[in-house]
Amino acid sequence: MAKPSLTLLFLLFFLFSSHVAAKQPRFYRSMSPTSLGLRKEKLSHLHFYFHDILSGSKPTATRVAEAQMTNKSPTLFGAVVMIDDPLTVGPEPSSKLVGKAQGIYASASQSDLGLLMVMNLEFCDGKYNGSTLSLFGRNAVFNTVREMPIVGGSGLFRFAHGYAEAKTQWFNLTTGDAVVEYNIPQELDIDYINGDDDDVTKRKTLYLLGLAS
Ligand SMILES: *[C@@H]1O[C@H](CO)[C@@H](O)[C@H](O)[C@H]1NC(C)=O
Ligand SMILES: *[C@@H]1O[C@H](CO)[C@@H](O)[C@H](O)[C@H]1NC(C)=O
Repeated sequence: MAKPSLTLLFLLFFLFSSHVAAKQPRFYRSMSPTSLGLRKEKLSHLHFYFHDILSGSKPTATRVAEAQMTNKSPTLFGAVVMIDDPLTVGPEPSSKLVGKAQGIYASASQSDLGLLMVMNLEFCDGKYNGSTLSLFGRNAVFNTVREMPIVGGSGLFRFAHGYAEAKTQWFNLTTGDAVVEYNIPQELDIDYINGDDDDVTKRKTLYLLGLAS
């Protein structure tokens, strides 16, 4: 063969370049949902009370930082509070503990009491023991209902997304102590193979009941 045909050249080029492409290291790959035990989305609804105690001998929240202007600011702009707040089934402090809210809230607004909330809700009861939800949002504490995004979770809450609705039950203006009711309807992207087998319809009913109450 005197001259390789154009077609052959193209073929060689194509084979060579695809060979090179196959050798490129990649940091991603597609995977099947079933390899993680993913089946379908389901809804669940959590309801508990958040106790934020700044006063007394056993505070659960403490101011860890502030700016020079913080105490002159009507909204305490710049105050940063670290929390390890109990989450209970009922509003009373003696009510059954179901988890802790661990994280930070900070006064991030100069025009209203608008907090930046960054916290992990770590549960310690029942099937959710050891599972966590991550909340990140704005909390305008004097609004009747505040909505904050749930941005993810771990354990049984893996792939969770949703929102939390917070409603103040009581607030002591002198001490800053508060009890806040939290409602978290959320979607769990998955139904674990090892998880329970509640069907989606049952969950939807629970969700609607939760919202209605
Ligand atoms: C939660 O899990 C921890 C660690 O596995 C265990 O020690 C504890 O007893 C569990 N609590 C409940 C209420 O199941
Ligand atoms: C607020 O806290 C102060 C100081 O502990 C207490 O004297 C007062 O009775 C509390 N007010 C309410 C409404 O609970």
